[in-house]
Amino acid sequence: MAALQWDDSFSVGIKSIDKQHQKLIDSLNDFYAHIESKSNDELIGSLLSEMRNYVEHHFATEEMYFKNYNYPEYEKHKREHTKFIEKLVDLEQRFNNGTIIASFEITTFLKNWLVNHIKGTDKEYSQFLIDKGVV
Ligand code: FEO
Repeated sequence: MAALQWDDSFSVGIKSIDKQHQKLIDSLNDFYAHIESKSNDELIGSLLSEMRNYVEHHFATEEMYFKNYNYPEYEKHKREHTKFIEKLVDLEQRFNNGTIIASFEITTFLKNWLVNHIKGTDKEYSQFLIDKGVV
C-alpha cells in the first residue's frame, strides 16, 4: 500500500508545481515500498538521497517564483524549507553512518511534513502566484 495518495486536495492550482508535488509523493511511496520489502540499506540510502535532491530542486523552484514576484511571505516560507532540508540531511547522515535504521517512523515523519506543508504553507501562495500568471 502507498504511504500517500495524491488527490485534488493537494492541488495548489498551478500545474507545474502540482507535478513536482506528485513526483515528491511518488518518491516517498517508492522509499516506503523499499522499506516494506526490506530492501538493502544501500538502495534505501540512495532513495533517501534522491528524495533530498528532488526536494531541494522543488524548493528552489518555489523560491525562484517567490523572488521573481516579490511574494510577501518569502522569508517565512523559505525558513520552513531550510529546516526541512536540515532535517533530511541529518536523517540521511544518521542512516548512512548506522545511527538510525530505515523505518516506518521516518516515512511517517516525511509524510506528515509533506501533507502539512503542501496543504498549509504552499496553499497560501496559490492565489498570489496564479494572479501573477504562473501556470
Ligand atoms: Fe512545495 Fe514549499 O514546498
